[in-house]
Amino acid sequence: MIADAPTKHGLAAGEAGRPDSPDWTIPQGWEHYSAEEHAIWRTLYERQMRMLPGRVCQAFEAGMKALPIAHDQIPDFRRLSDVLMKHTGWQVVAVPGLVPDDVFFEHLANRRFPAGQFIRRADQLDYLEEPDVFHDVFGHVPMLMHPVMADFIQAYGEGGLRAQRLGHLEQLARVYWYTVEFGLVEENGGLRLYGGGIASSYSESLFCLDSPSPNRIRFDLERVMRTRYRIDDFQETYFVLRSLEDLLELRQIDFAPLYERTAAQPTLVPGDVLPTDVVLHRGDGSYHRARRG
Ligand SMILES: [Fe+2]
Repeated sequence: MIADAPTKHGLAAGEAGRPDSPDWTIPQGWEHYSAEEHAIWRTLYERQMRMLPGRVCQAFEAGMKALPIAHDQIPDFRRLSDVLMKHTGWQVVAVPGLVPDDVFFEHLANRRFPAGQFIRRADQLDYLEEPDVFHDVFGHVPMLMHPVMADFIQAYGEGGLRAQRLGHLEQLARVYWYTVEFGLVEENGGLRLYGGGIASSYSESLFCLDSPSPNRIRFDLERVMRTRYRIDDFQETYFVLRSLEDLLELRQIDFAPLYERTAAQPTLVPGDVLPTDVVLHRGDGSYHRARRG
């Protein structure tokens, strides 16, 4: 399936899950996590930390090191927020899982990162329907320590509120997807991952860098805004920044004129490669072809 809905965050949030607070936040209730829940964190954390060196970008590693994120327990959002606030002015707030798009954007625009309060079950280590605390905190929060990423995600929240009004959310959501969730960056002569959707996934951390199957293409804003994405499997194409500083440019961009221009051009499917693309690796498509049978 290819996503038609604007973002993963808006897909499954229904009225049934709505908490009492209008901004959907709930107490993290850190004291109430069970030993089993902390043990699931530990399993996930240790597996990723063994594998990520040499694959993840330096900013992620530096953020992880500076934050109170330990191997043996689910992090306490209050302690994370204390450190983030000092560095980049961000906080982490607990939500039940997916939240509606407008709620999500409003949080980001105010430098509050909504993180799933729950952790996946022990029999679902590699299966995730909604973002849990491991995806959100391990995957995303270290990058919030990087000043450029911190500004970019806030700008994305502001842009999201505007895009909703303009009816172009789908195009903007693709930018988030192919950067904050599934972005790669060039570093030290090689490719490194920085997207939280990858950094929190054991199998995709390997796939995105090692597999001959996916395309790895230089990030181009208008190109990305036209490209649909997969929500149920590995990506067919990863977009590569020359450096995280490229996000500075995006932060300052007023997307409004781009929406009209990109909406007038054909929408691309995830595996498309264009003659105008700067192709770092042309994927052989073997993985998704096998999946399709
Ligand atoms: Fe995410």
